[in-house]
Amino acid sequence: MKDGKIRPVITGTGSYLPDKIMDNHHLACLVDTSDEWIRSRTGIRERRILAPEMATSDMCVIAAQKALENAGMDPADLDLIVVGTITPDMVFPSTACLVQHRLGAHQAAAFDLSAGCTGFIYALAVGSQFLLAGTYQRALIIGADALSRVTNWNDRNTCVLFGDGAGAVVLEAAAAEEGLLGFYLGSEGSGAEVLCQPAGGSRLPASEETIAANLHTIHMEGKEVFKFAVKVMGEAALKVLAQCGMTQNDVDFLIPHQANIRIVEAALKRLELSADKVYVNLDRYGNMSCASVPVALDEAVREGKISKGDLVLLVAFGAGLTWGSAALRWAK
Ligand code: ACO
Repeated sequence: MKDGKIRPVITGTGSYLPDKIMDNHHLACLVDTSDEWIRSRTGIRERRILAPEMATSDMCVIAAQKALENAGMDPADLDLIVVGTITPDMVFPSTACLVQHRLGAHQAAAFDLSAGCTGFIYALAVGSQFLLAGTYQRALIIGADALSRVTNWNDRNTCVLFGDGAGAVVLEAAAAEEGLLGFYLGSEGSGAEVLCQPAGGSRLPASEETIAANLHTIHMEGKEVFKFAVKVMGEAALKVLAQCGMTQNDVDFLIPHQANIRIVEAALKRLELSADKVYVNLDRYGNMSCASVPVALDEAVREGKISKGDLVLLVAFGAGLTWGSAALRWAK
């Protein structure tokens, strides 16, 4: 594919996981659940919980520093920082601006992007457009969430599912054979209420009533989200492959959103991929929302599971409702 085309190329990856581990047995002390139920219904054994003195931007900075080091890039050379998150440090300013300052990325434009758990793939697609247009050359794309901060620890339907973390990639414009080959994004706002944090925005500002009603935490209709996820994960993967003129037979490695092992297995079945072609870390981290895909990508790369020239497929779904996929020819 030596066509002289400019492509966005991932030249570095990094991630951060909090030290504190919360296992299923701990959760069984908080709500009426069991290790057996959580493992059999979700595949999750344990998750990481962010230290009280830290916030989402702190995780972003560490993941970003590792990605920049991996790419051999000085933060001062970055043109753009995009953070996909649904748990920013504050409503405003953006977490990306806090990260820009902490990294010393003096030349970079910075903003956050909200697309539920699909945030990282949306951010990758948006950042790539600046590179493809020739506006910018070097972007930092981060997916990070601290869902433990918006979890209702009395709700067994949700509190067993989530964890905290951050992942980052450095994206550079290059006339390369490898890089981002294509992406596909979708949304369906009619499903907004099946997965949301109802209060804290302009519709229901924080009040004694919203706090008493637990409206600042995640509300989820699990069965509805499950059905939606199974449908769109396979669809999104097949759509991006078709767009790139490829089929599932061309896929070397799949990095799916890490929400539930049964959703991952359904995607594998739909794509007719064997289990050795997928990266799974949800057993160790649970669903880290925007961080799930970039953390899994970073771990897969560092463990040597992805080689130069491999076709890597990223696919995710989340609140919005949103879904998305990206096809990458691995460059390193
Ligand atoms: N422990 C024990 N029992 C539980 C628990 C628990 N932690 N949670 C629910 N149950 C009970 C339910 O109350 C229900 O009991 P009932 O039959 O008496 O009413 C029973 O288990 C079965 O519940 P189901 O909803 O049928 O269980 P299911 O097999 O569907 O699994 C789950 C539930 C794990 C939530 C699944 O639906 C799922 O994974 N959904 C998708 C979640 C997801 O991906 N969310 C993405 C969030 S992304 C973001 O943007 C934040």
